Amino acid sequence: MRLVIGISGATGAIYGIRILELLKPRSDVETHLVITDMGRATIRLETEYSVQAVEQLADHVYNVKDLAAAISSGSFRTDGMIVAPCSVKTLSSVANCLNDNLLTRTADVTLKERRKLVLVVRETPLHAGHCQLMLDASRIGAIIMPPVPAFYTHPKTIMDLVDDTVSRILDIWNLDLGSPRWPDSR
Ligand SMILES: Cc1cc2nc3c(=O)[nH]c(=O)nc-3n(C[C@H](O)[C@H](O)[C@H](O)COP(=O)(O)O)c2cc1C
Repeated sequence: MRLVIGISGATGAIYGIRILELLKPRSDVETHLVITDMGRATIRLETEYSVQAVEQLADHVYNVKDLAAAISSGSFRTDGMIVAPCSVKTLSSVANCLNDNLLTRTADVTLKERRKLVLVVRETPLHAGHCQLMLDASRIGAIIMPPVPAFYTHPKTIMDLVDDTVSRILDIWNLDLGSPRWPDSR
């Protein structure tokens, strides 16, 4: 399986990082990573990871300005893409097919090839413009998946909350990480 991971500049860089960490030991999943400039900034501002350390978790890394990279073409076959976290700006670019950097270009390619695209949209509160963008993106095929954890798993740590969201995302590709599930978690 080949998955593209995009990290944009919403708070919650840890979601993208955790996805890469969990997929790293899996020999059946090849990861392709693209990080926006503000995604790089949030990694530095809110996590203990360097951007370089995050990039080392992926099998392939691309420059967000490189619109000629392999993942920018539909002829490069993938099994889908996860944008985690997804800022409102990146959501807007996807919803409007802007293709203005490698992340949003690859997201658009993912949709046009009818592959799965998960947008972990993170903003709060939301105005009608944000809601409209999520509706527009959903109508062209994106899966809108804000990071909203469940509490029936009895989370003890912040990482439990992060892993809850991450495991629901990876469920979309049937990648079972053994995280707690209802009703076993009761
Ligand atoms: C610490 C920090 C947290 C941010 N959190 C959010 C957020 O949760 N959601 C959002 O849409 N933008 C957030 N932003 C603003 C985005 O980084 C900004 O809109 C940027 O243009 C997004 O660009 P990108 O989508 O290309 O990464 C945040 C910025 C900083 C510095």
